[in-house]
Amino acid sequence: MAGVNKNIVILISGSGSNMAAIVESSVKQGWQARFNARVSAVISNKAGAQGLAWAEEQGIATRALAHTRFASREAFDAALMTEIDRFEPVLVVLAGFMRILTPGFVQHYEGRLVNIHPSLLPAFTGLNTHQRAIDMGCRFAGATVHRVTSELDHGDILDQAVVPVLPDDTAETLAARVLTQEHVIYPRAVERLLAAG
Ligand code: GRF
Repeated sequence: MAGVNKNIVILISGSGSNMAAIVESSVKQGWQARFNARVSAVISNKAGAQGLAWAEEQGIATRALAHTRFASREAFDAALMTEIDRFEPVLVVLAGFMRILTPGFVQHYEGRLVNIHPSLLPAFTGLNTHQRAIDMGCRFAGATVHRVTSELDHGDILDQAVVPVLPDDTAETLAARVLTQEHVIYPRAVERLLAAG
């Protein structure tokens, strides 16, 4: 497909399994040929993030930008924006990026910024979602892909997946079950955004 390259930049903090699922889908489903789109860069706020090494092995540009080196949230976000904007992305994908973003950052990428959250939003925004779902006696849990607004874990819902909460679940077993579904819905949501242009 001719036309402008559609670059996707993914931000991670840790293992990057959602990032890897998106990269693998992009290859298997031919996003390059179908949408002229590719994952062009993976950026982490932690130098040792496991996902960075994996992305590098796939030939993707990687950057580590340690937030601890910056005096303020605003200064970090400004530096992060500079790194991201080198790739002129059509989409900035937060995949286990464990930072609260400043309103300036969110505004800058308005309409291009998506996140995955490990709960059925609007339930359980914030942290420890799996333990909180178990403690509340929820029969079902899940994950949500949503657009990012300056309010934490809000914004239009793009996709969701539901899993059962089993009687002997711990936060870890539930998290693992939810994560398998995250790997299905996140690539699917990104693909739909690309298809929608
Ligand atoms: C996922 O559960 C995601 O929903 C949450 O952090 C976890 C990141 O996992 N925000 P990974 O780095 O994609 O493996």
